[in-house]
Amino acid sequence: MSTINKFNKYVMGTYGRYDLVLEKGGGRTAADENGVKDYIDFGSGIGTNSLGYCDSEWVEAVCSQAKTLQHTSNYYYTKIQADFAAKLCGITGYSKVFFGNSGAEANECAIKLARKYSFDKYGKEAKRYNIITLENSFHGRTLTTLSATGQDSFHNYFFPFTEGFINAKANDSDDFKKKADETVCAVMLEFVQGEGGVIPLDPAYVKEIADYCSLHDILFIADEVQTGVGRTGTFLASEQFGVKPDVTTLAKGLAGGIPVGACLANDKCCDILTSGTHGSTFGGNPLACAGGNVVLNRAADKDFLAGVCEKSAFIKEKLSQIPEIEGIDGLGLMLGIRLKTKNAAEICKNCLENGLLVLTAKTKLRMLPPLNITYEEIDKGISILKNVLQEKENG
Ligand SMILES: Cc1ncc(COP(=O)(O)O)c(C=O)c1O
Repeated sequence: MSTINKFNKYVMGTYGRYDLVLEKGGGRTAADENGVKDYIDFGSGIGTNSLGYCDSEWVEAVCSQAKTLQHTSNYYYTKIQADFAAKLCGITGYSKVFFGNSGAEANECAIKLARKYSFDKYGKEAKRYNIITLENSFHGRTLTTLSATGQDSFHNYFFPFTEGFINAKANDSDDFKKKADETVCAVMLEFVQGEGGVIPLDPAYVKEIADYCSLHDILFIADEVQTGVGRTGTFLASEQFGVKPDVTTLAKGLAGGIPVGACLANDKCCDILTSGTHGSTFGGNPLACAGGNVVLNRAADKDFLAGVCEKSAFIKEKLSQIPEIEGIDGLGLMLGIRLKTKNAAEICKNCLENGLLVLTAKTKLRMLPPLNITYEEIDKGISILKNVLQEKENG
């Protein structure tokens, strides 16, 4: 039985997959099962393989950890988790972190933390448990993070959803203030809405919300699951927006392709989740921490981050010369390409057939290349995209 047939027989059909079996990768290139074809990867596993495939230092760290201690429960301490936590807090300026295994789990932690913060301070009777999220946001696939997600298309089938989420219009501070009443304990937002179509928020709006939250003791949660860990050209996107959220969640690229999630909290709220109030069996797994330490050593370096910004400018410049492209949105190496024809899904498929892996976000093509992609690889990938777009244009 072919891999695809076996897969479809035994794995639930929750994804619309391409007819491609990937077997191995090196650098920023993946190869198919038969070793027949190579693919330049501008998607990096949806932003997870931040250092590309099988980076030698990362492989060495993960393999050596696997030979030492692959996991232990969180009833015990490990040095690797302590080192990773200290490094992450040091880089971001947060006081403490909780580790889980995914973006949704990191956000679940932030939501629980925010509700308990208000419960502890204002009491149960205050019913201060509502959380404002933005229209068109995406926060994950668990029932609660789906409820937080501000897109109606996700609110089907799985009733009843978790209550206590209010959607506000992005970039409309009046709408936010109207909804931020005494029942609200937190706001959660993405600085660049990723799944929503690579749409950056207006920095003036973000600043106004941050100030309002601090004045009214509403916790400001930044969902940096997609934007964090150097993706936008600063370690955290919040740095570019000039705000310091109370809580920041990270996942995707944090461990370079090993499942991880992190919920970082400042002094004000880092001791809210006490013993027994939260947990995750695999959270802070030593392999993830070992991979994560290598990612942090690289992605928090100022020259590395300057490189992300330079590559971003280079890609934008190259793309702007392609007539079929209407415009480019996004920050750093999180880019959304507006196509004149709006047929991103079809172009994405054609790119794959021609050896380039890209993503879509709504009607846009989305690029989340490994942060250490080379200029040569960028050139190669863009020339594939250019040919695909021109062939389409010429019928
Ligand atoms: C902003 C944001 N939050 C949360 C998630 C959910 O992350 P995960 O799929 O790791 O649970 C995603 C995933 O795309 C995301 O982009």
